[in-house]
Amino acid sequence: MAAFAHEHWSSRFAFLMAAIGSAVGLGNIWRFPFIAGENGGGAFILIYLVTTLGIALPIVMAELVIGRMGGQSPIGSMVELVRRHNKSRIWLLIGWGGTLGAFIVLSYYAVIGGWAFKYTWLSLTDSFSGADVEASAGIFAVFTGSPVSLFLWHTFFMGLTILIVIGGVKRGIERAVVTLMPLLFLLLLFMVVYAAGTPGFDQAVTFLFQPDFSKVTSTTFLLAVGQGFFSVSVALGAMMTYGAYLDKSVSIPRSAIIIALADTAVALFAGLAIFPLVFTYALTPGEGPGLVFVTVPVAFGQMASGLFVGTAFFLLLSVAAITSAISLLEPAVSWGEERFGGRRAAALIIGGTCWALGILSVFSFNILSGFYPLAALGLEGDTVFDVFDFTVTSWVQPSVGILMALFAGWALSRDTVKEALGIQKDGALFGFWLFAVRILCPLAILLVFLNAVWPDFAASMLPG
Ligand code: PFF
Repeated sequence: MAAFAHEHWSSRFAFLMAAIGSAVGLGNIWRFPFIAGENGGGAFILIYLVTTLGIALPIVMAELVIGRMGGQSPIGSMVELVRRHNKSRIWLLIGWGGTLGAFIVLSYYAVIGGWAFKYTWLSLTDSFSGADVEASAGIFAVFTGSPVSLFLWHTFFMGLTILIVIGGVKRGIERAVVTLMPLLFLLLLFMVVYAAGTPGFDQAVTFLFQPDFSKVTSTTFLLAVGQGFFSVSVALGAMMTYGAYLDKSVSIPRSAIIIALADTAVALFAGLAIFPLVFTYALTPGEGPGLVFVTVPVAFGQMASGLFVGTAFFLLLSVAAITSAISLLEPAVSWGEERFGGRRAAALIIGGTCWALGILSVFSFNILSGFYPLAALGLEGDTVFDVFDFTVTSWVQPSVGILMALFAGWALSRDTVKEALGIQKDGALFGFWLFAVRILCPLAILLVFLNAVWPDFAASMLPG
């Protein structure tokens, strides 16, 4: 079958905005601060930096290079590469696993994305004015307890994602990201500058950057790896798809470093925007998933310009979520396009199916909140939403990540990969990368696996 001719990014800038848009999402602004908050702040952050740059970054490079070499959707690229290089069909798992994983993530990601838009609206209509923690928790409980509200916001978010993806690489995704990403950076800058002027800023800096190693356990390390993978969008085919649309003239290592550093910087800035408010208004930093939707709105409700600052914050969260969501839909849609020719039909059918699957996650917060589908396997207390999240982040991402690293490191020839990366000489950078994808990353990820199935073993292998 002749390869499908996909559109390409019109510039390196457009690609970087799309890739950073994919990486920067709910994972940075919603998940990172509460995970850091629950796990001792600075100590977690230090480990996060090491694991993200040491483990996730080399795999981002592997993923981009596989995409560039295949030139197709993740599924199409793997079929093509396996055929061209005469490799085992087992590698096709990279394409299928990643694409399906991204599809499942999008189904529940859209639900939380919908919350972000709803909260932008609530801020704009001054709904948090004067609210204390109890009142804010009440607003959150009423919203998430309503299947109809959650369903409508989920539908709105998914509809927007599908609309952008229908537009295609240049007129859809690229146009959205080159306007939205600069807006996101501006909003974040505004939030940090605002937070820097509040009395809780110093305390927040200490909390975020002073490592307390007594809090470090083997779990901290494993949590950091998982969060890093999710945050830089690795191992779900998103980067592979975006890499397939990238002109050969752009250097992959340099782009990957920019993407990983930008993603990490946004996570840290999100912490610097949120925690000063938490400390200024004497709220608790370790509130878990409710940090952004319950705790932070209390601060907005107390401050003089809360309407403005709160709206800016939730708009930031919404923009971050939508630019990630399009990258979660694109891998499957680009496959549909190759298979059936029409982007519009592919986006509508695949996006529509994902939307329908997401209804299970909508109900996980209300009518199905007591339904634990995998209770028999020990996941007592985990709703459909939790099971989807757990399955993809703890199983699909690590296994596809290992396969991507091994495929780029061992299955493809060293010279072809070097050329596709855009590296001219055999320097230290290439040497380190090759060592990372061949040995370091697969081993480190294996440890994540072992911790999931056999915690005592993994714990005995790690300090802490
Ligand atoms: N990186 C996104 C976030 O931090 O919210 C989520 C994500 C997008 C993960 C795309 C994986 C992916 F392929």
